Amino acid sequence: MEEEKKVKVLISKEELESRITELAKQIYEEYKGQEVTFICILKGSIFFTVELAKKIPSDINFEFIRVSSYHGENSTGVIKMKVDLQGDIKGKDVIIIEDIVDTGRTLSYLKEYLKSKEPKSLKICALLDKKERRLCDMQADYVGFDIPDKFVVGYGLDVNEKYRNLPYIGYFENV
Ligand code: IMP
Repeated sequence: MEEEKKVKVLISKEELESRITELAKQIYEEYKGQEVTFICILKGSIFFTVELAKKIPSDINFEFIRVSSYHGENSTGVIKMKVDLQGDIKGKDVIIIEDIVDTGRTLSYLKEYLKSKEPKSLKICALLDKKERRLCDMQADYVGFDIPDKFVVGYGLDVNEKYRNLPYIGYFENV
């Protein structure tokens, strides 16, 4: 992959593996081994969702939602639902699995939307958190890494659909 050379490593494969193991243990213990529904926010959260779920030895249900607000590296601020839930989450313990919290708009929208479906509980687990960029009051319940205000790619995150399959989180030096 030629583009890979231009990307600097921010969080290595090993660091991701070790932090995701910790998050999985925390979630498993807090839910006391009870069944949990993961709502994977496509497409960026696929790698994180899969790796996290594989490390939790209790039942996980999977749901998928796809919203869009980004064009290239810029948020348009307008959230559109592209793929909606297929199953019923009423009365279930639900965790939204998100790749990154940036302005917080996507999760604010999703939290309100999912609350209206009456889950028993609703939490947010984000792999990355760019707190400096926050434009609304949004705090994830579980956070993998706090990161600086850099546009990042890899481990599911993209720029115009590229770089998702890098096994680490990287950034562009001059961006
Ligand atoms: P928010 O609504 O501004 O919090 O943005 C959340 C969504 O924006 C994430 O799910 C990502 O899809 C995208 N996003 C935000 N920051 C980055 C980044 O640094 N790299 C790639 N995608 C990003």
